[in-house]
Amino acid sequence: MKRKIVILSGAGISAESGIKTFRDSNGLWEEYRVEDVASIDGWYRNPEIVQEFYNQRRVQLSTVEPNRAHKLIAQLERDNDVVVITQNVDNLHERAGSSRIIHLHGELTKITPEDKNGDVYDIGYQQIKIGDCDSRGVQLRPYIVWFGEDVPEINRAAEEVATADILLIIGTSLNVYPAAGLIYYAKKDAQIYLIDPKDVNVQLANVVHIKDKATSGMEKFIEQVSA
Ligand code: APR
Repeated sequence: MKRKIVILSGAGISAESGIKTFRDSNGLWEEYRVEDVASIDGWYRNPEIVQEFYNQRRVQLSTVEPNRAHKLIAQLERDNDVVVITQNVDNLHERAGSSRIIHLHGELTKITPEDKNGDVYDIGYQQIKIGDCDSRGVQLRPYIVWFGEDVPEINRAAEEVATADILLIIGTSLNVYPAAGLIYYAKKDAQIYLIDPKDVNVQLANVVHIKDKATSGMEKFIEQVSA
């Protein structure tokens, strides 16, 4: 029976690939107001701005690569049962080779009709604009979970955390719920690691904090769990 490692990743793991985080200094939320570009209200108020925000991020994603942290996580699959739960909407875990990924907040390379009828289309790094509709004439929107919307994958993610032998929290400020609440589903005897260059408010006992950036932190994590 392989050891089960569950990873909860956030924007910090993609920082070394050149993608801005949200709440670091000069992060995305310093340039844009969350309520304008990442909330359902923002979409109803001014959908053009929202489409443009994600069109720009899709173009940027086409120019960046997974970094060593993404690749080391993918390599863990050789000897462990690994599930990646990510808050990130980029496709860097996929491109690094991870095979079991839960995207809590959606995926930048996908779109869905705005009546959320369950259809999802992969558009890669293309743009979409107001007026682009599905065959029923319903406007297409980014396949992103916005503030004010449910997180459909949260229960599946909680079940994965609840059965993890090792929980690795990497590159997230744990500011946003329900994603941040996942860590409390960990088993009492699970080993919990945190990789982040800053202190993160984790209200859990016996967390091993590897105070480092994702790439070098992952090297240290692998040393510690392989020991
Ligand atoms: N390596 C590892 N961690 C890093 C690095 C790095 N190179 N650089 C920054 N970090 C850490 C920061 O210290 C911070 O703790 O990554 C974390 C980034 O936190 P946020 O910017 O808040 O990103 P995240 O936690 O993913 O945000 C969660 O908020 O806006 C919403 O939907 C959005 O999914 C996002 C959610």
